[in-house]
Amino acid sequence: MDLYLDTADRAELEPLLATGLFRGVTTNPLILARSGVRLDEVPDLVAWLFVHGAGEVFVQTTTESADAIEAEGHRLRGLDPRVVVKVPATREGLTAVRRLSDAGVPTLVTAVHNPRQAILAASAGASWIAPYLGRVSEAGRDGLQAVAQMVRVLAGTSTRTLVASVRSAEDTVRLATDGAEAATLSGAVARELFVEPLTDAAVAQFSECLPSLGARVGG
Ligand code: E4P
Repeated sequence: MDLYLDTADRAELEPLLATGLFRGVTTNPLILARSGVRLDEVPDLVAWLFVHGAGEVFVQTTTESADAIEAEGHRLRGLDPRVVVKVPATREGLTAVRRLSDAGVPTLVTAVHNPRQAILAASAGASWIAPYLGRVSEAGRDGLQAVAQMVRVLAGTSTRTLVASVRSAEDTVRLATDGAEAATLSGAVARELFVEPLTDAAVAQFSECLPSLGARVGG
């Protein structure tokens, strides 16, 4: 499973990107607002993310009509060839995604809550969909089952599933088991993936016996 970080907080991103385990970063207006990043600061943020190890950055459009989203998508893509354009799964958004796909711009259809939207995104030629797992579950539906259905819907298409709104490390494991190709994680969930007390206990044991083993391997 490919892992992405779902935050625009530089202090949170820097140590996680430094691990080399996260392929890139996803943003949206809510994430920018939470991190105090204004829209006119997005180009600087994108440049900073690539310098600090992101291989791809997903930037979301903020306009509503298909014409405006299409134009904005081209502007965002113009920031860097590694930018993927995120577009909400509205009728206007999907119309713009079809046009951007035809122009060779990679896109992610976001705020996906229903498998029917996965069908539409694939028809629009989207590179990715982003199902909102946590929000689907919190709305009283079976979020994991909905995502698994989307993965099946997209099998054999060129549209992949990058799950967002992920609430726990355990959900990440379930998603990988169910065939989701990628997930984007908050800093908290990303850090939770590294937590395993039994590994810590084993490493402590390794350290305890080192003094009895003499010099290091290789001197
Ligand atoms: C999209 O990339 C985000 O995950 C989106 O903000 C949904 O996450 P949330 O439900 O935690 O807000």
